[in-house]
Amino acid sequence: RLLACSIAPLRYLGPSLALFLSLHLTPFPVYSTSAFSRLEKVGIRHPPTVPFIGNLLFFRQGFWENHKKLINEYGPLCGYYIGRRMYVVVSEPEMIQQILVKDFGNFTNRMTLGLVSKPVVDSILCLRDERWKDVRSLLTPAFSAAKMKEGVLGRAREKGHSEGRKEAQRGTKTPTQEIYCIFNYIVCASFLMTPLINQACDVLLSNLKIYADSGTAFDIQRCYGCFTLDVVASVAFGTQVDSQKNPDNVFIKNCRRFFEFSVFRPIIMLTIAFPFIMIPLLRILPNKNQDQLNGFFINTIKNMIALRDQQNANERRRDFLQLMLDARSSVSYVGMEHFDIVNQADVSIQESDKALAKKVQKTLTEDEIVGQAFIFLLAGYETTTNALSFATYLLATNPECQEKLLQGVDKFFRKHDVPSYQNVHELPYLDMVIAETLRMYPPAFRFTREASKDCTVMGQRIPAGAIVETAVGHLHHNPEFWPEPEKFIPERFTTEAKQQRHPFAYLPFGAGPRSCIGMRLGVLEIKMALLHILQNFKFETCPKTQIPLQLKSEATLGPKNGVYIKIVSR
Ligand code: HEM
Repeated sequence: RLLACSIAPLRYLGPSLALFLSLHLTPFPVYSTSAFSRLEKVGIRHPPTVPFIGNLLFFRQGFWENHKKLINEYGPLCGYYIGRRMYVVVSEPEMIQQILVKDFGNFTNRMTLGLVSKPVVDSILCLRDERWKDVRSLLTPAFSAAKMKEGVLGRAREKGHSEGRKEAQRGTKTPTQEIYCIFNYIVCASFLMTPLINQACDVLLSNLKIYADSGTAFDIQRCYGCFTLDVVASVAFGTQVDSQKNPDNVFIKNCRRFFEFSVFRPIIMLTIAFPFIMIPLLRILPNKNQDQLNGFFINTIKNMIALRDQQNANERRRDFLQLMLDARSSVSYVGMEHFDIVNQADVSIQESDKALAKKVQKTLTEDEIVGQAFIFLLAGYETTTNALSFATYLLATNPECQEKLLQGVDKFFRKHDVPSYQNVHELPYLDMVIAETLRMYPPAFRFTREASKDCTVMGQRIPAGAIVETAVGHLHHNPEFWPEPEKFIPERFTTEAKQQRHPFAYLPFGAGPRSCIGMRLGVLEIKMALLHILQNFKFETCPKTQIPLQLKSEATLGPKNGVYIKIVSR
């Protein structure tokens, strides 16, 4: 949600108010347009601007379609203004690679949103520069792959996670032993989430069975929303809940309030036009609703932390919250070269003694732990729910692909009783279906970096403070890389096909050190849910299924009106 938070104002935009502002605030003629010459100065084309609000109206129907329109009209490197803020849109793989990876030092941060308050402001999504680097370093092991050799795995099981870390903290180990301790940590982290996700899958299945038995059409996106929320509650907040059956549970109610939370429209508009007055003003004005909501989450997690600290190590629930508590003070520093989970850079942690040998005492404060628990809600909830909904829509409308997938699922269950972190890798066609779903409908379809200094990227000048935005949707539908881009063809993702494409032509999880830290967890959740469902049911379209699917693209890309389908028992 925060990744595209700048879009939120569009939701509240009243065209009449925009007109009012542009007509009545013209006593400030210089201020109203003075920011709008900066793109032109560096030769970047953009749509005509409206005083005070820039190109906000250009995107009033969302960003998905209008990104395409913008790039088609103004070229593959173009720009726009939201209020006084300048955006540079990049859509070519080479340039994207340069910004996300090669020039990362100058493009480390996402854009700031002056209005964000605690606990969100402490989350890794919002952190900047050195503090971001420290927190990412502490969190990276918790999200890493368990690509372990059998010996290490055995040792991890034998020694146990917390014992290994305690030894590391006592500093009594040789560098090689220390690496083993880090492995323990990684191994435990990856395996721990699987049973928690399996539990949430069982709840999802029992809820879906009701629709299969009755044969009625229903909106499966709602069920996926509940499933993902159950996972968030379980892994990040240490709370077991069936949100579909218990919509009145206080945690669930507050999560929903968190997403429904809206700011009074004119205030948003005024903030865009006059950020230097509005942001400080809003920071000091009391906001009872927001404070209550933030207070609820902060207290829930703080109470949970107090409880965990009182428990013996073996009584503690092994979830993400616990992993963070264990990582509160770390003696070893995972270097930035291992941050890029999308490109498997974390896997080589095992080979790099150098990075691990660098010992630094880093700590997470209690506020920061609360902030990190929020990343599941902020970055993981909508993205995963939407990805599952899109995959379902595409399988229901492409029955031949679904049939092929069902054969793979049946073969899988002839060999395994329960899906786990290790065995879900044995489903190549499922991997391809998910990859193609995220190509056609990338939930996080635009993400940003802020230029910290004036720079030149591949001959293009980019001024300090510009927000560089990657147009993932446009990239994923560019026929140069994806022939017949509107067709669902999972075979685009065979190993051979992938090798022939530019690696930066496909970016559903971003790239470089600031790429999605939760990619493996998100994909694991999607795979486990689809596997469990397709073992028991198959998806069918019905007269209520909207074909083609209408989309909304305010914060994330999602189905506009849900995904209505039928499920049939197998
Ligand atoms: C299908 C599911 C998901 C998709 C498509 C997705 C996509 C993305 C994208 C595109 C970014 C921006 C990358 C960049 O700026 O280069 C991102 C960042 C991030 N995602 Fe995900 N994500 C998903 C699931 C998750 C989950 C489950 C988590 C949970 C914990 C998560 C946590 C994060 C965090 C913390 C960041 C910011 C990392 C940083 O700033 O260092 N994501 N995600």
